Amino acid sequence: MLSLKGKTVFITGASSGIGKACAELFAEEGANLVISARRFNLVEELAKTLSEKFHIEVLPVKLDVRNYSEVTENIAALPEKWSKIDILINNAGLGRGLNKLYEDNVEGWEEMIDTNVKGLLYVTRTIVPGMVKRGSGHVINIGSIAGHEAYPGGGVYCATKHAVNAITKSLRMDVLDKGIRVSTVDPGMVETNFSNVRFYGDTERAKNTYKGLTPLTGKDVAEAVIFCATRPPHANINEMIIMPSVQANAFVTYRKET
Ligand SMILES: NC(=O)c1ccc[n+]([C@@H]2O[C@H](COP(=O)([O-])OP(=O)(O)OC[C@H]3O[C@@H](n4cnc5c(N)ncnc54)[C@H](OP(=O)(O)O)[C@@H]3O)[C@@H](O)[C@H]2O)c1
Repeated sequence: MLSLKGKTVFITGASSGIGKACAELFAEEGANLVISARRFNLVEELAKTLSEKFHIEVLPVKLDVRNYSEVTENIAALPEKWSKIDILINNAGLGRGLNKLYEDNVEGWEEMIDTNVKGLLYVTRTIVPGMVKRGSGHVINIGSIAGHEAYPGGGVYCATKHAVNAITKSLRMDVLDKGIRVSTVDPGMVETNFSNVRFYGDTERAKNTYKGLTPLTGKDVAEAVIFCATRPPHANINEMIIMPSVQANAFVTYRKET
């Protein structure tokens, strides 16, 4: 098992849910962290908590992954000791709505494509060249079962996660001779702020997503990410699909009457 102690880990979307849980578990493993999100106050607070609790160094960064110049400038401006990123966790992402394509809002499509696809590409394009130069690194993308299946009302979200799946596979081939590993962790239902965002703050509808079943937690997914990151250098987890035990796929779940 590879030690994460002293490694530098860059996480996007670390202010909530899976990204935040990744920050907590990597901190527990003794890694130093760059934690980024748009809500700077949240990553700043998390940085303070984790550095005090685990005696590691944590740098909070305000970052909107949709903005290419912000991505390149903020990453170029990282202090020297933070610039050698060992592990990149491309987690920032969102769903917007669950509507029939022909009735859906174009603004939501722009947000999903700009964040889940273009944002992931911008961050990857900016960080991976350093890994190539050093001949080592690991990119771990947070995909989704929506990258393997399409479901009604999810046309654009599923398209973005299919794109993440393709980018993951392609990048893995591009860096095969560079000592860089590329993995994707693809969850089913995880109870985070995801559904609140998807349903534009309709908390009742968000809660109903998980009615009658026990969903995954951000920590469950973060544990899968830690497993990928701690494989010995000769082994790579290409893809890990993780679901609640009562979810078989995007369509079939077993829910208890409540
Ligand atoms: N929850 C699920 O059921 C589920 C299932 C499969 C896959 N996923 C994937 O898991 C990832 C994390 O989602 P989550 O479930 O943890 O949801 P979440 O709790 O809503 O967290 C999403 C994170 O992404 C960040 N983010 C959103 N837009 C961003 C932007 N433009 N720039 C930078 N950061 C941005 C948010 O931070 P700020 O708002 O502070 O910027 C937040 O930290 C996403 O890629 C999602 O597609 C989730």
